[in-house]
Amino acid sequence: MTTNNFPDFTNYGYQVTRELGHNRAGGRVTYLATEINSQRTVVVKQFQFSRTGANWTEYNAYEKEIKVLKTLDYPNIPRYLDSFQTSGGFCMVQEYKNASSLADSRTWKPQQVKQIALSVLEILKYLQSRIPPVIHRDLKPDNILVDDQMNVYLVDFGFARSGGGEVTVSSVVKGTLGFMPPEQMFNREITIASDLYSLGVTLICLLSGTNANDVGSLMDETGRINFQQLKKRLPPLNSAFLNWLEKMVNPNYKDRYENAETAFRALVSLEVLPPWEMPKWVFPTVAGLTVSTVIVGIAVTGVLKLLNPASEKQISAGNSSVTITTNPESSESLSQVPMSEKRVYFSVNLSKIKPGEYTGFCQLFDGVGALVAMGEAPVKTADNRLQAWCWYDFKNTEEVQPGDWKFKFYLQGESVAETSLNVTR
Ligand SMILES: Nc1ncnc2c1ncn2[C@@H]1O[C@H](COP(=O)(O)OP(=O)(O)O)[C@@H](O)[C@H]1O
Ligand SMILES: [Mg+2]
Repeated sequence: MTTNNFPDFTNYGYQVTRELGHNRAGGRVTYLATEINSQRTVVVKQFQFSRTGANWTEYNAYEKEIKVLKTLDYPNIPRYLDSFQTSGGFCMVQEYKNASSLADSRTWKPQQVKQIALSVLEILKYLQSRIPPVIHRDLKPDNILVDDQMNVYLVDFGFARSGGGEVTVSSVVKGTLGFMPPEQMFNREITIASDLYSLGVTLICLLSGTNANDVGSLMDETGRINFQQLKKRLPPLNSAFLNWLEKMVNPNYKDRYENAETAFRALVSLEVLPPWEMPKWVFPTVAGLTVSTVIVGIAVTGVLKLLNPASEKQISAGNSSVTITTNPESSESLSQVPMSEKRVYFSVNLSKIKPGEYTGFCQLFDGVGALVAMGEAPVKTADNRLQAWCWYDFKNTEEVQPGDWKFKFYLQGESVAETSLNVTR
């Protein structure tokens, strides 16, 4: 029994709550539902045969989606649960993820877009490691879900295929215009690099705030994304990141990254923001520790320790402070950091500094007092203040010891600030 206009799946054990999405042309409607026995929330996707008449393409999409989903076992891909057939069409039941699609208008900071890109590439790495590799073929904002914790999920395997190769002449061009790479549009060979193209266009939509339906406005007459034009619609981005994006959407798949793994590796260490927007600086890295000056002010709290206050060659007559954080955009100050963190930042703040340019130098010692990293960089004062960023990447965690780590900062060779940090395994 249903109390609304939704189809009645109660005979099959499901009660529809609301519609999640529909593709009328393709005859598909996706519902949020409750599995009556367990009371768990699920997703029921109905492939209707009544609306579009006797057409077997929907049935193919349904069969394909079930077949592909059944073989996949990955936390970021909702699991296949069940299927049944009603008078209205075929239904596929899958796990529900409390996440909304990228098609919902939300604004993303460039750093978040990078995070989403890396997460989708992780999922593609999994798909491409299947034998034969699975190609999604319909990557676009609608089919990528992101939750409040920035977990990313990939849905809609209706067009997916196992293995690449030529598309048979008879097969219909599937996918979504604008997100399809040329080789898919013109029914040529499809490879795992085809999904990279679609991901690239998706990221460009997110960065430029372009609605998926307006994706055509990013293309020139030849269907290529014109990067010179595009730059005007993008926020300031690091040129290395722009080059990465451009390679993702290269019309020729041979000029894209080879697969998700290589695209991932090329992206992971890239700065997204241009130097002047970055909350830190790109200076020579010595043993993994980089010193940097900063322009954006970050609220300073935490450990205050003024060294050499009365020294004659004193550089600083004011306070010095070091704030420790794993997120340079937050104003939190940490005293403990687990090694599972990727990176820890030390923000050094000095006040009442004689204006000028100095050489900043920092050192980091681990729990047994061994020097794990050091770095040097030119730093400049602004309004008699000086802020420098140092960061450390927990890369070779076998080689360093947990415990009380020491961070020391020097200006012109003079020790001006230090702090300690409890590092845990
Ligand atoms: N497992 C899921 N959990 C949460 N939302 C989902 C799930 N699957 C799909 N959705 C939502 O339903 C929409 C339509 O599902 P999709 O499988 O993409 O259908 P279609 O083939 O019609 O595009 C998606 O864009 C997404 O917003
Ligand atoms: Mg979809």
